Amino acid sequence: MAAELSALNGLDFLSSADLNGAQTQALLTLAADIKAGRRNPRLDGKVLGLIFSKASTRTRVSFTVAMARLGGQTIDLNPSVSQVGRGEPIKDTARVLSRYLNAVAIRTFAQSDLQAYADAASIPIINALTDLEHPCQALADYLTMQEAFGSLEGLTMTYVGDGNNVAHSLLIAGALLGVNVRIGCPAGFYPLEKVVAQAKAIAAGRSEIVISEDPAEAVRGAHAVYTDVWASMGQEEEQSTRVQAFRGFCVDESLMRHADAKAIVLHCLPAHRGEEISAAVMESSASRIFDQAENRLHAQQALLATLLGAEG
Ligand code: CP
Ligand code: NVA
Repeated sequence: MAAELSALNGLDFLSSADLNGAQTQALLTLAADIKAGRRNPRLDGKVLGLIFSKASTRTRVSFTVAMARLGGQTIDLNPSVSQVGRGEPIKDTARVLSRYLNAVAIRTFAQSDLQAYADAASIPIINALTDLEHPCQALADYLTMQEAFGSLEGLTMTYVGDGNNVAHSLLIAGALLGVNVRIGCPAGFYPLEKVVAQAKAIAAGRSEIVISEDPAEAVRGAHAVYTDVWASMGQEEEQSTRVQAFRGFCVDESLMRHADAKAIVLHCLPAHRGEEISAAVMESSASRIFDQAENRLHAQQALLATLLGAEG
């Protein structure tokens, strides 16, 4: 294990900011090595718990398959079939699970609930999406961009749409990796100011962090154009007002004309064709969306191997 990564053994991954730049880059290298079959870390006999309070296809399945490939296994602790859903205190659940499991991946609403698990647990807690961040997604996203261009040095990632959890982790992880990150979003849907300030502080002089209300300006010359749903899980009742607010922010062929000629298109999925992305762009040769979904698996294998101190 690279020296940068061995320091992460036993730690939590609650935010993209829990890693430094060298660690983030080393994780991407390990993920690429695992994907190519150059590395085969082992977690035989280790068990990961999954507590998901929101729906998931990619995150749940990729964590389950990642543990299987590493020689370990997962237990699905869906709140509806465990005492979590009946209100058992987080601090009790976290301490009990620490006696059985080697790590827990949690998808929930409040980042403070995730933090409460981490505070009480003695095993690594992993953010599998909260309303604030989606750091596992950002690892797969930058792995996909690195694959497409060979290196991330000097590249620009533009995210068009809602300044949400996905945008927050892209900002922080991009800053850590030296990537210019631009967010194109309408007024009222900016990423949180504290996250933008955090990303700017990390980027400090190495790359640019820019927020723009002009999607064409944000996309100009970008190497990756990324979008996500306009209404995230928990915001379903705002769907129709958001469709109005985000008019002009669809990643379609006319917006893509402003990007670099070799630009790739990314989306964390699930996608709403005809809203945040056109069907034509989604199915275009620029799309790396399904490579990106696959890369969740490789990035999370690297993450689990690192946090759980895998051999090999
Ligand atoms: N991108 C992502 O996290 O997908 P799921 O909600 O299906 O896990
Ligand atoms: N922003 C979306 C991401 C889903 C993977 C949500 O939180 O619903």
